Amino acid sequence: MCGIVGYVGSKQAQDVVMEGLRRLEYRGYDSAGIAVVSDGALHIRKKAGKLANLIELLDQDPLPQSTTGMGHTRWATHGPPNDRNAHPHLSYVGKVAVVHNGIIENFAALRSSLESRGIDLASDTDTEVVAHLVQDAFDEIAPDHETRLREAVRRVCARLEGAFTLVISHADAPGTIIGARRNSPLVAGLGDGEYFLGSDVSAFIAHTREAIELGQDQICEINAERGITVIGFDGGEIELTGYTIDWDDAAAEKGGYDWFMLKEIAEQPAVVADTLRGRLTDTGDIVLDEVRLSDEDFRDITKIFIIACGTSSYAGMIAKYAIEHWTRIPCEVELASEFRYRDPVLDRTTLVIAISQSGETMDTLMALRHAKDQHARILAICNTIGSTIPRESDAVLYTRAGVEIAVASTKAFLAQIVACYLIALHLASVRGVKWGDEVAVIVDQLKAMPAAVEQVLDTMEPVRKLAREELADCAQVLFLGRHVGFPVALEGALKLKELAYMHAEGFAAGELKHGPIALVGDGTPVVVVCPSPLGRDTLHGKIVSNIQEVRARGAKTIVIAEAGDEEVTPYADHVIRVPHCPTLLAPLVTAVPLQVMACEIAAAKGLDVDQPRNLAKSVTVE
Ligand code: F6R
Repeated sequence: MCGIVGYVGSKQAQDVVMEGLRRLEYRGYDSAGIAVVSDGALHIRKKAGKLANLIELLDQDPLPQSTTGMGHTRWATHGPPNDRNAHPHLSYVGKVAVVHNGIIENFAALRSSLESRGIDLASDTDTEVVAHLVQDAFDEIAPDHETRLREAVRRVCARLEGAFTLVISHADAPGTIIGARRNSPLVAGLGDGEYFLGSDVSAFIAHTREAIELGQDQICEINAERGITVIGFDGGEIELTGYTIDWDDAAAEKGGYDWFMLKEIAEQPAVVADTLRGRLTDTGDIVLDEVRLSDEDFRDITKIFIIACGTSSYAGMIAKYAIEHWTRIPCEVELASEFRYRDPVLDRTTLVIAISQSGETMDTLMALRHAKDQHARILAICNTIGSTIPRESDAVLYTRAGVEIAVASTKAFLAQIVACYLIALHLASVRGVKWGDEVAVIVDQLKAMPAAVEQVLDTMEPVRKLAREELADCAQVLFLGRHVGFPVALEGALKLKELAYMHAEGFAAGELKHGPIALVGDGTPVVVVCPSPLGRDTLHGKIVSNIQEVRARGAKTIVIAEAGDEEVTPYADHVIRVPHCPTLLAPLVTAVPLQVMACEIAAAKGLDVDQPRNLAKSVTVE
């Protein structure tokens, strides 16, 4: 949610900042802006709409040469997405420029105190107040103070409430950019005589792989001569903790595909394999990435809560089936945004599994903190190394999906499901519910899944044709599933809503007759995620009845069924075949055609597949 870049070094700041914004645009695309410091002045260009509009503006009205710059790509919170509200925002004398991600909750009070002094605010944003406050604080500090801008930002941060990442420059401080963070992401990059700030590492991956972690309530100064310095909001200096980014620059490029989403869908067999690789020993022990929990802790668990949002919560719903079946520990899945408000009952024997691709989702982070306050153990499943959610957890299992750029999650979803299976197996093994040989059988089944996903991907042409020719113009599409097929149905509907802006709903197939079946009319497309006939036969039999029920009411049925399942054929207008796999692992194959379908429908409608309207990749506000 909002992408931020800061740069000091020897290159042209405009080039570095614009390249960073291009890679961060998935975080928000309501407007974009850039500021550089040159000849004792700030120079700003900003424009509503996608980054392309800013690029056009820069072509018409180029910025002066500079080696100090910062930029922003916005997902609007305060104020509509127009030129005026685009970042950076300037202070009243035009000396301070600020870009911001998050929400400053006490901005109304700060704004009225500025207005009472006769300062006219030029925008509707909460961000602008920060520029004025930093201007004031800077002017109060002696001009010979070596870190005057940093100290001014520190004083202002102490007055701000809410969640924020700020990146700030001053016309009188060329060669310096200050970043500050509270509950919102910011990382620093360490190049050769050049330094970067970014909402995530993709902001500077083209220049360096060396990154510095920034914690909560910290301020980071990047200075062309002094390098990187980090202090706390209390002023105390903080030792730098660095890490090397292990994905390469090419991962952030489309690699010949029309859309990042297509590339990410195609990467799924490798992602499933990577997430499994080296993680389970023959005896069922799991190799977690960061563990601050003992086997004893795992043995003591009496209840599991999974907290997550959106697609990640559907991975959690799938996990629930595996966890309860394999471990016999009760498991609940909760939307993170609701969790803490209902006062859940937690204690030291509760394990809370927080699932997040970005590791920065504010709803999930706040739910996690609530659980921590109640002394629950926290295990994060996350795709972004060094992000806030894993850092605040007791143990972490990283999904190895690589950077996911398309706003709609695909490969991270499959990786999350795999990670959940691994955790469930580990719990089953540590608690003695499953023997080593039983775990080994499931591990072998998991190892066969990358090939099964590949097989699905190789047979997607009929799905694309169906999407283009029969679904793109429909008013609505319904999705049905049972057991693990239910969350897959929910995910299929979510993909279609967010990408193609179509009315789509996912239902537990058995629930349909309790109301939603009224939505089914002549020709209504109903996609059914069918369980394996080799699993529990009651499950398969029941869904075949559900297919007949909707068909009898005129539905056009599109059935995702296992190879060889002929029982569904008479009732299906279209059958999408997936290879046989064990019931609990089936979501890894049944979700894929639904991703392809949504992507193809959005493309057929001429929509932006990678950056759907109103969305952002990393949702850092509640
Ligand atoms: C949908 C999608 C979102 C995210 C949700 C949680 O395609 O991507 O629903 O799953 O915003 O995000 P993370 O996993 O980053 O916490």
